[in-house]
Amino acid sequence: MAKILVTGGCGYIGSHTIVDLIENGFEVVCVDNNSRSNPIVMENIQQITGKTIKNYKVDLCNFDETFAIFQENPDIQGIIHFAAYKAVGESVEKPLMYFENNLYSLINLLKCVQEFSVPWFVFSSSCTVYGNPDEMMVTEETPLKPAASPYGYTKQMGEDILGEFRKVTNTQTILLRYFNPVGAHPSIKIGELPVGKPQNLVPAITQTAIGKLPMMKVFGDDYPTRDGSCLRDYIHVSDIAHAHTLAIQYLKEARNESSCEVFNLGTGNGVTVLEAIQAFEKISGVKLNYEIGPRRPGDVVAIYANNDKARQRLGWNPKTTIEEMMETAWKWELKLKEDASLHENPNFQMN
Ligand code: UD1
Repeated sequence: MAKILVTGGCGYIGSHTIVDLIENGFEVVCVDNNSRSNPIVMENIQQITGKTIKNYKVDLCNFDETFAIFQENPDIQGIIHFAAYKAVGESVEKPLMYFENNLYSLINLLKCVQEFSVPWFVFSSSCTVYGNPDEMMVTEETPLKPAASPYGYTKQMGEDILGEFRKVTNTQTILLRYFNPVGAHPSIKIGELPVGKPQNLVPAITQTAIGKLPMMKVFGDDYPTRDGSCLRDYIHVSDIAHAHTLAIQYLKEARNESSCEVFNLGTGNGVTVLEAIQAFEKISGVKLNYEIGPRRPGDVVAIYANNDKARQRLGWNPKTTIEEMMETAWKWELKLKEDASLHENPNFQMN
């Protein structure tokens, strides 16, 4: 049973990935400083899996404390690195905070990887690295354009750091570029817990529908798309989570073609903001209170994944439809209404 360290394991994608790893026979340890996540998530993972996961409440920017995790677990064979700040708008306002947090943490972790000769490393990247691409459908070979935000630059730089790092170690690395992860685990015991007012579309929809927000805005209906609203590739978080297990298995079986490989993780279907709202209204029966607002600065017009590589090489087969994504997201929002303990992270304060 290989031991995998999941960083940011109390977060949205991290928590779903821990469940998937355990269901596929891996042993997991977690590190999460809970600065933007709720520690109760660990209990909910335990309810789903029947396993207790050790969480080290450590800030990865603290090298000594990070190093101590490896001293205590010298048998870590793989790392899946989720821990990072991810709010695009906040990164524009506080770029140094983003560069400091997202890059120092990665560098500290890689120093430990080198010292302890950890064989496998999976990095949470994002379709944001493509910037505003010339083609709507991007492959892993699509040239990267300037990022639209400091957050995006931290993902581009993270990929570059790993691209150089692989030249001086034997660690095998995978970069996973996520499109738009949404929805919740089918058990409805874990899901997305946005910090403060949600910036992302699906929590904005569900929080409006439940009445936490009085209304929501569609950011622009004059884009060159089929209905004028932006087009994205929404992908169920459990499908994303499973891709991490497949990536670790791929490295474990030495099926990788190079020591640093990249994969797009999207469904391959573009969905506009207005279509996403229609899908939500259909499954929930709720008429959403929304209006058309101005464009949001930094938004790309349209992007969706060519996911052939992940399908062919990892054997990944995302199946969840946009309606099913919305259904789990809605059930999760209904659950949050009942269960106060799950509400947003008690520790978090905007710096
Ligand atoms: C962006 C990044 C993604 C990153 C994510 C982190 C790109 C292409 N994507 O996602 O890689 O992981 O930020 O947060 O750079 N919208 C509304 N009203 C709202 C909220 C959103 O109309 O209240 C629209 C947006 O304008 C956008 C779509 O919904 O067109 C999706 O927005 P969002 O969920 O924030 O994700 P991205 O910006 O695509």
